[in-house]
Amino acid sequence: MSGRIAIAGKGGVGKSTIAALLVRALHERTGKVIMAVDADPNSNLGEKLGMRVERTIGDLREDLLKKADEVPVGQSKQDFVRYQMQLAMVEGSSFDLLTMGRPEGPGCYCFINNILRIFLDQAMEKYDHVVIDNEAGMEHLSRRTSKHIDAFLVVSDDTKIGVETAVRILSLAKEMGIEVGRSTLVLNKVKGDVHSVVKVVAQASKFEHAVVLPFDRDVEKASIEGRPVIELPDGNSLYLMIKALALEL
Ligand SMILES: Nc1ncnc2c1ncn2[C@@H]1O[C@H](COP(=O)(O)OP(=O)(O)O)[C@@H](O)[C@H]1O
Ligand SMILES: [Mg+2]
Repeated sequence: MSGRIAIAGKGGVGKSTIAALLVRALHERTGKVIMAVDADPNSNLGEKLGMRVERTIGDLREDLLKKADEVPVGQSKQDFVRYQMQLAMVEGSSFDLLTMGRPEGPGCYCFINNILRIFLDQAMEKYDHVVIDNEAGMEHLSRRTSKHIDAFLVVSDDTKIGVETAVRILSLAKEMGIEVGRSTLVLNKVKGDVHSVVKVVAQASKFEHAVVLPFDRDVEKASIEGRPVIELPDGNSLYLMIKALALEL
């Protein structure tokens, strides 16, 4: 079982697009509610999933710091945080979405950060499948108490520099102590012949697997019109490829 899937790569390569389509594919295959975590401070997974995000974990952290003395009578601080975290979770019919928002500041808010981390890990334990859309630095992954990732997808364009960056991101994850189960290089938005990118993929021998995803007109159109990519037609070729990827993971 694929369990925890983390997606990384530099900005604009298509992480959130792929994350949203994977959430849909995993739900279609298993019938289970998938947990989606937007761990990019430049959050946009909610939009791709067609969900409005009112509150992020970052907002919650700031509120808790301001109102540290305002825990309602009869409630422990931990229960209060747990309740607030529940409020930050957006629930859909096929997925639940948690948006991390701005990262932890340089100051030590140890108490609150620690309970938030524990609750996040506990929340993730409740789901069979969790898809985490990360920023390039993977800060949230490195701060988690449990550092195991079943599948790690690093997304890149089909350029030499892009692939070199992807290889660096994989090494960085390992240096951070993240235990990576299966690693896959995903070349996205590829225009033209798949064979032409084989050479580029060969550079990335550190990855166990490689997948090539084409540039897709429907995705481009959805993006231009501001429509959620999760609503692509069932027969869309990119979506079919992501369904196949979900099966492999
Ligand atoms: N396979 C694809 N075909 C066409 N456009 C794509 C594809 N994947 C992503 N895009 C577009 O690229 C842009 C960046 O994608 P996004 O998923 O937001 O990247 P990231 O999350 O890595 O910053 C968006 O406009 C998105 O619609
Ligand atoms: Mg994104």
